[in-house]
Amino acid sequence: MDKNKLLAIIADEIENCKECQRDKNGVAVAGEGNSDADIVFIGEAPGKKEAIEGRPFIGRSGQLLRSFIREIGLNETDVYITSPVKYLPDRGTPTSADIAHGRIHLMKQFDVIKPKVVVLLGRVAAEGVLQKKVFVVKDHGQIIEEREGIKYYLTYHPAAVLRFPGKFKLFMKQDFEKIKSLVTKV
Ligand code: URA
Repeated sequence: MDKNKLLAIIADEIENCKECQRDKNGVAVAGEGNSDADIVFIGEAPGKKEAIEGRPFIGRSGQLLRSFIREIGLNETDVYITSPVKYLPDRGTPTSADIAHGRIHLMKQFDVIKPKVVVLLGRVAAEGVLQKKVFVVKDHGQIIEEREGIKYYLTYHPAAVLRFPGKFKLFMKQDFEKIKSLVTKV
């Protein structure tokens, strides 16, 4: 079956998922972009704006992420953008239960897209996806795991850069410059 159709089926499952909806705030944010993307960007959880519009990374963090993507010569429509948690969490920050559950949906999305590179934006994304302890300050700008043909690459979450621009903006820019070289076909 066509990858777009398969992703739409997963998006439907997310929308109707009783477990996700236990503390449902706003609408589901399944993810968006190219169903055949080589590069997938993984955040943390939707914010308020995302939960109103049902689209990932459209608030301030999203504007920054999307500008970094464009700066390395990629189009937002070339890549796929999502997060392990598919609904706005109750207190804004996802619990480990939210992440563990959302990961089930995310893994199904990976199975369809079959990306070459997964860019993990920050600790929550990295620990949620890889299920191990990750140190962003020490290991950003590197592939921190390679599994079943997928390279997992670590950088900062754009919200951290908005909070401490002096400290992290240059690091994140440098990390992004390496991303394109990680895939042969983009
Ligand atoms: N932060 C995330 O991790 N995801 C979004 O969609 C928005 C903000």
